[in-house]
Amino acid sequence: MKGKNNSHKMKVPFGFQDVDPEDKPHLVRNVFDQVASRYDIMNDFMSAGIHRLWKRSFVAEIPKRPNLHLLDVAGGTGDIAFRYLSSLSEINPETRVTLCDINQAMLSVGQRRALTRQLPLLPKWICADALQLPIPSRSIDVYTIAFGLRNVTDIHQALFEAYRVLKPGGLFLCLEFSQISYPLLEQLYTKYAFHIIPLMGQLVAKGRTAYQYLVESIARFPNQETLVQMLASAGFKHTTYRNLSGGTAAIHKGWRV
Ligand SMILES: C[S@@+](CC[C@H](N)C(=O)[O-])C[C@H]1O[C@@H](n2cnc3c(N)ncnc32)[C@H](O)[C@@H]1O
Repeated sequence: MKGKNNSHKMKVPFGFQDVDPEDKPHLVRNVFDQVASRYDIMNDFMSAGIHRLWKRSFVAEIPKRPNLHLLDVAGGTGDIAFRYLSSLSEINPETRVTLCDINQAMLSVGQRRALTRQLPLLPKWICADALQLPIPSRSIDVYTIAFGLRNVTDIHQALFEAYRVLKPGGLFLCLEFSQISYPLLEQLYTKYAFHIIPLMGQLVAKGRTAYQYLVESIARFPNQETLVQMLASAGFKHTTYRNLSGGTAAIHKGWRV
């Protein structure tokens, strides 16, 4: 790995480890390379299908205007982009959906899935890092990121980058695991997450370490209030959040004015 002589540098979290910032994109890419082909089936297994309800609630937050350009960052195998496209009652030549992900294996699974759906339009696929989007400033109406912010090397920078690409009046939406507000549910969840999910990952997705990383990264992700503050410090206004399933996940929202 690079950066072994840079011990003075700030480290960033990768699960429960602290790693050099330049190593994290490669480590995260490895995680999703391992699980790409089984990613969707594993989501259903480990959440008993609940991720579908969360994604439905999330997509319901996106305005349904046909002339809107949606950018779905960390879009993976396409769940958010496909749900959004399927929810549109009307499209026109200005309707645009761009799906960006750092991992080509996840995008390739998504591209194959897109061909099996009756989508009114195919997304544009971009392989890029959320920290450096190859997207012009002030060009996007809605920026979505679902279960992706946890994985980026620098959350602040990802939020600044989201702000940069949004048009004034544009909407930022994040769906992410969060802090559970009920102690009993929290205890049950922690047991399930640390004991069952990595085992399921091993059996279903052949990737125990990938799912160990998943639960560790959730544990280290900022809570609801902290993320609201981070959004505000990136420049977003009218920032709010809404808990899903007692705070197991949350939808954060902010506007570029
Ligand atoms: C848990 S998956 C979520 C996929 C999809 N949004 C969903 O909800 O099913 C996380 C995705 O984030 C992507 N990712 C991780 N780090 C990223 C980064 N720095 N920039 C863009 N995508 C990233 C991964 O490759 C992976 O596809």
